[in-house]
Amino acid sequence: MTLGDFYGIGIGPGDPELLTLKAARIIKEVDVIFVPKAGIKEESMALDIARPLLDGKRVVEKVFPMIKETERLESHWREAALAIKEELEKGSSVGFLTIGDPLTFSTYVYLLRCLREMIPEEKIHTIPGVTSFNAAASLANLSLAQRDEKVAIIPVPDEVENLRPILETFDTIILMKVAKRLDQVINLLEEMHLTQHSLFASHVGLKDEYLTRNLTELKGSGRGYMSIIIVRK
Ligand SMILES: C[S@@+](CC[C@H](N)C(=O)[O-])C[C@H]1O[C@@H](n2cnc3c(N)ncnc32)[C@H](O)[C@@H]1O
Repeated sequence: MTLGDFYGIGIGPGDPELLTLKAARIIKEVDVIFVPKAGIKEESMALDIARPLLDGKRVVEKVFPMIKETERLESHWREAALAIKEELEKGSSVGFLTIGDPLTFSTYVYLLRCLREMIPEEKIHTIPGVTSFNAAASLANLSLAQRDEKVAIIPVPDEVENLRPILETFDTIILMKVAKRLDQVINLLEEMHLTQHSLFASHVGLKDEYLTRNLTELKGSGRGYMSIIIVRK
């Protein structure tokens, strides 16, 4: 039996219409779909987005807890890679769904690293997806870069103050993984007189999508999860 093909598939940030034709075709064609879940009780968001295309296909959900201990996390990825390898060795093709683009701030790269040690590179295919920040910018018809402008894409650090030199240097700053640091980020933007140049977007493409340019109003709202702030000077 020949080894099946593996596809890491970017499915966009939420709106099923932002799934590429290629991603949709491969989701329909593969024998098995693997999806990541943040915790056992949590519905996989990726699965929700792709559900209309699955049509009775076998789905394997793998839990990847939101933890920072690399060793424990690695054992989850290795276990997922082994389960995928087992399917591929049976001759099945496997798709692995990721939110947005698979190679942009995605834990998919951990899986990729494990798979590369187990199967030949030519059997691994990554299918790009629309990123969450591209979708957020489009919601507001906001240009991200022109001519020689510089763009920074930054996951908000625990030490929010570390954003200051980046906010000073770049023309466009895309802040991801804002989460519980939303109020601190807004305080910094206010102090730097950047709130009037900022845009906040959360749950882009999902039913509770929210977009505002009034960041000050957001303080204390707890809306930081699944959100992006774009600062455009
Ligand atoms: C693990 S990263 C995944 C990024 C993804 N691979 C991409 O290409 O956009 C998770 C972060 O992406 C952003 N994100 C993902 N989906 C989003 C959405 N639908 N709306 C707003 N932000 C989103 C948030 O900043 C979130 O904290």
